[in-house]
Amino acid sequence: LTTALPAALKARLNPVLASLKAYQPESAPARILLDANENPFDAPAGFRSRAASLARRLAYHRYPDPAAADLRRVAARAYGVRPENLVFGNGSDELIQLLVLAFAGEGGSCLVPQPTFSMYRACALAGGLKVWEEPLGADFGLTPGFFKRAAAGPSLIFLAWPNSPTGTLYPGAQVEKLLALKGTVLVLDEAYAEFSGDSFLARLDRHPNLVILRTLSKAWGLAGLRLGLLACHPDLAAELEKLRLPYNVDGMAQALALEALKKPAALEKRRKEILAERTRLEAGFARLPGLKLYPGAANFLFVRHPKALEFHGYLLKRGIRVRSFGGGISDCLRITVGKRHENALLLKAAHSFFKERA
Ligand SMILES: Cc1ncc(COP(=O)(O)O)c(C=O)c1O
Repeated sequence: LTTALPAALKARLNPVLASLKAYQPESAPARILLDANENPFDAPAGFRSRAASLARRLAYHRYPDPAAADLRRVAARAYGVRPENLVFGNGSDELIQLLVLAFAGEGGSCLVPQPTFSMYRACALAGGLKVWEEPLGADFGLTPGFFKRAAAGPSLIFLAWPNSPTGTLYPGAQVEKLLALKGTVLVLDEAYAEFSGDSFLARLDRHPNLVILRTLSKAWGLAGLRLGLLACHPDLAAELEKLRLPYNVDGMAQALALEALKKPAALEKRRKEILAERTRLEAGFARLPGLKLYPGAANFLFVRHPKALEFHGYLLKRGIRVRSFGGGISDCLRITVGKRHENALLLKAAHSFFKERA
């Protein structure tokens, strides 16, 4: 198969694919990975040995529990919701896709701010939703234009809270205002909530139009497992279950996620360390001439500088990978908070880059 895909077959593809690009993470090799908002700490030793013993016992020839009943019970307790509120996904990415499929009927539409996590737009377009993109305002806040669009009644609004890549935590009152639009489902993606310290989970019972996404990929340090959670009204969860592929969360992921959620203490120590490091990095970056540092509530910094792309390459040469972007934020970088020594190397490189160019 060395020739191009025949035009007759290409013509059969969903036409929306012509306007989409495959997700492109940073991929240049580097020693220090500060580009994907991962937890810089690998799983604790205790977790690793329990994982090894679970791996020895797993019935590999059997399908995993499609209802993830054990994980469901433990996760419901950990997140303070009822078991029937939950839907599990192969990462929260998959849950975004699931939501889109569920609302992709005649006239289905969604509203997303710009910039935000790219999968909302990509999944929505691929699923046939009409997508309204509304630019964020100064300092990446929600604008009156966004609320006007929201009031026009899309099926879904996707809001990352805090936002990625900007780190913005929109005021809770603005989230409430969107929830007051009873005919629209607000998907509040709380992927970074453990770092912001703010969540709408406790308000789930008050809002039938609220869907909350959580993940074990960030603060829990388990991006390799692929475990995302969605919490919503039980009737909506039951509808989503009709579309969820029965074995989307594999047996090891279920067992290991359960282990992690049973022992939140390990998470807490690391979370605090990351927050302390974020403060240290912010103080260091705030001193760099000509660089704008946006206030952020997640485990990353978002900065703007006319030489951002050059700085990105400068860091790569020193073995440090951060995240760059195209479009309207090509002069911005997103920098994940790493371990103390990684952050120290980053700050040292940043100071020499900006000193050389001052
Ligand atoms: C806002 C947001 N939501 C969801 C995800 C995806 O998380 P998961 O690993 O659970 O698919 C990310 C990953 O970077 C993210 O930034």
